[in-house]
Amino acid sequence: MFSSIWMRATFLALTLALAACSARAAQTATPAYDPKALPAGPVGEAIAYGHSIIVDTPRLMKPYVGAQMSCAACHIAAGTQPRGGSFIGLYGRFPQWNKRAHRVIALQDRIAECFLYSMNGKAPAYSSKAMISIVAYIAWLSRGVAVGAAQPHDDRYIVPLPKAAANVGDGAKIYASKCSMCHQPNGSGISAAGFPPLWGAHSFNSGAGMAHADRMTGFIRYNMPQNAPGSLSVSQSYDVAAFVLGHARPRFNKNALVVTGALPAKYF
Ligand code: HEC
Ligand code: HEC
Repeated sequence: MFSSIWMRATFLALTLALAACSARAAQTATPAYDPKALPAGPVGEAIAYGHSIIVDTPRLMKPYVGAQMSCAACHIAAGTQPRGGSFIGLYGRFPQWNKRAHRVIALQDRIAECFLYSMNGKAPAYSSKAMISIVAYIAWLSRGVAVGAAQPHDDRYIVPLPKAAANVGDGAKIYASKCSMCHQPNGSGISAAGFPPLWGAHSFNSGAGMAHADRMTGFIRYNMPQNAPGSLSVSQSYDVAAFVLGHARPRFNKNALVVTGALPAKYF
């Protein structure tokens, strides 16, 4: 009798402990972006619209986009995935020094850069609904992360490259067996199926971060092939990145800067 009460008490304690554990697990498993968790009203609407722009960029931002891909083609899971170009915590890291612009930039300037280079387009005005919504979305993903704090997780996909030159021939073989079924033998992708172009007229332009071997190698290493991410070594990723980057793509058009007024000349 005594022992069975004791057992029941132990069982109850265990059950409670387990319940607490799974509550904690459920808490950490909460998706970084949950539309049901947004604040009601205009701020929530701005955050949701910002998210829609990230995943559906060519449709929602048509006049501003030349490339046939969404921001989420390179910012995986709408910028919520470690080593996938994550936006989590990013809001508190701006303003920051920017080497290319040679001045201190705001988050809007950095977003403008991805419009100019990665999207081969032009930046929406900083006071536009689109720009404010993208900022609202990134701020929402960054809530709880202190201003100036280190990244809560590794957001970048840059990797140290092998010392030797890439083997483009090996890269071509990897491309044919592991990439071309989605990105197509001619690199054009299939936009309707959500497979973005890797080179050619509809890809990112020569000024994009992804046009650098270290960024693309890291991106491939951690995120591609999409059906088996993590399956390629750094050196295989490097070879296939060299093959991809060996093809023609749009050249960055400096006139876009004049049109949008983004990235003004150095003033610091
Ligand atoms: C072709 C790939 C690609 C596309 C498309 C793309 N980006 Fe990026 N983005 C990058 C790369 C690469 C970086 C630089 C990452 C690094 O420095 O390691 C970056 C960086 C950024 C950053 C700064 C991140 C940081 O850690 O400082 C922001 C903000 C950003 N992108 C927003 C956007 C938005 C908004 C869009 C769509 C309008 C977009 N990007 C489309 C590849 C892309
Ligand atoms: C199963 C289909 C599939 C396969 C196979 C695949 N990808 Fe992708 N790739 C995608 C999708 C979809 C995206 C957009 C991001 C996402 O949703 O994961 C993408 C994005 C990319 C991007 C960034 C966007 C751009 O257009 O530049 C690069 C670079 C890339 N893939 C390279 C590769 C390489 C190299 C391989 C082979 C090693 C590969 N992919 C295999 C589906 C695939």
